[in-house]
Amino acid sequence: MTATITSISHYLPPDIYPNSYFEKYLDTSDEWIVARTGISERRFIKDGATSDMIVPAAKKCLEKRGLKPKDIDCIIVASVTPDHMFPSTACVVQNKLGAENAWGYDISAACSGFLFALVTAAKLVESGAAKHLLLCGADKMSSIVNFEDRAQAVLFGDGAGVCLIEKSDDPEMGILDSILHIDGSGGPYLNQVAGGSYRPASIETVNNKEHYIYQDGQAVFKAAVVGMADVSLEIMQKNNLTADDIAWLVPHQANLRIITATANRMGLDKEKVMININKYGNTTAGTIPICMSEWLNVGKIHKGDRLVLSSFGAGFTWGSVLLRWNMNE
Ligand code: UT7
Repeated sequence: MTATITSISHYLPPDIYPNSYFEKYLDTSDEWIVARTGISERRFIKDGATSDMIVPAAKKCLEKRGLKPKDIDCIIVASVTPDHMFPSTACVVQNKLGAENAWGYDISAACSGFLFALVTAAKLVESGAAKHLLLCGADKMSSIVNFEDRAQAVLFGDGAGVCLIEKSDDPEMGILDSILHIDGSGGPYLNQVAGGSYRPASIETVNNKEHYIYQDGQAVFKAAVVGMADVSLEIMQKNNLTADDIAWLVPHQANLRIITATANRMGLDKEKVMININKYGNTTAGTIPICMSEWLNVGKIHKGDRLVLSSFGAGFTWGSVLLRWNMNE
């Protein structure tokens, strides 16, 4: 028995911030940002929290599947920008949707959050513990970005992707395999130092800007290029797949150069790689479901397609998921 995605949708805030927005007040340029990251613009939500992006995407997702909020029996939210430290954003979403029969919880795995949550969700559905599971990957990165630091301000965006995970009617289809990793020795290179029990929020932590993202870009870049490419190749080899067998690589969108290195390692043409980093930047847990939702909307994913989903992020966390698309267009 396998679990599968039966509906998917996404939400992106309407307000667009092109690279020229940063040129006005930071020592940066459109040329640098495009050449080093592949990003041209991103979206930031003006009012509202992470749950306010999840809820409209969730409503659309349920509507497409012909389900009501009360049909949902479990909600998992992957995010590093939850509405609050507690209660969980899953609880907030449950209440806003009126999903009165659901339980649920949040998962924190940064840019790998959606993949880690997808694998967990699939296990819950396969075991029979959940039937109609609402899986949300969403981040309001603008709430933790230091907009005075050119090395991070230009990289991130806000957005949400939501899908339904249910039992697959065909055991050869759906979420077929996964390889997931964590390595906590990578923690110092990408983190948010303050606000947790290690360093509770105080005037000092705010003055030191420790409530913002800290990233050693080059260290993360080097680990990401190796980690994401290796794990993507490994899942292909483990399942005896060649590049011809794969319809799409769905990579986490942190840097176009990391995506290209991963595709090259897999021997995939760029036509088989989902890329929207140019429009949205890095929406952390949102990138992978937003890609799949967008590509499905324009009829570019077909029943039977093999997709390799891959990510690398803070933790370090990284992994790949092999899935065979089991939805009619
Ligand atoms: O999704 C979570 C995981 N995160 C990632 O995967 C991100 C991985 N890292 C990266 O994508 C890249 O390291 C960055 C895009 C963050 C930076 O690119 P880079 O090619 O590694 O640049 P760098 O950090 O080596 O910086 C090169 C230069 C530096 O100036 P100097 O020291 O050579 O004078 C930076 O200060 O570029 C400078 N720089 C900028 N210049 C213009 C950094 N940010 C900017 C900027 N505009 N926005």
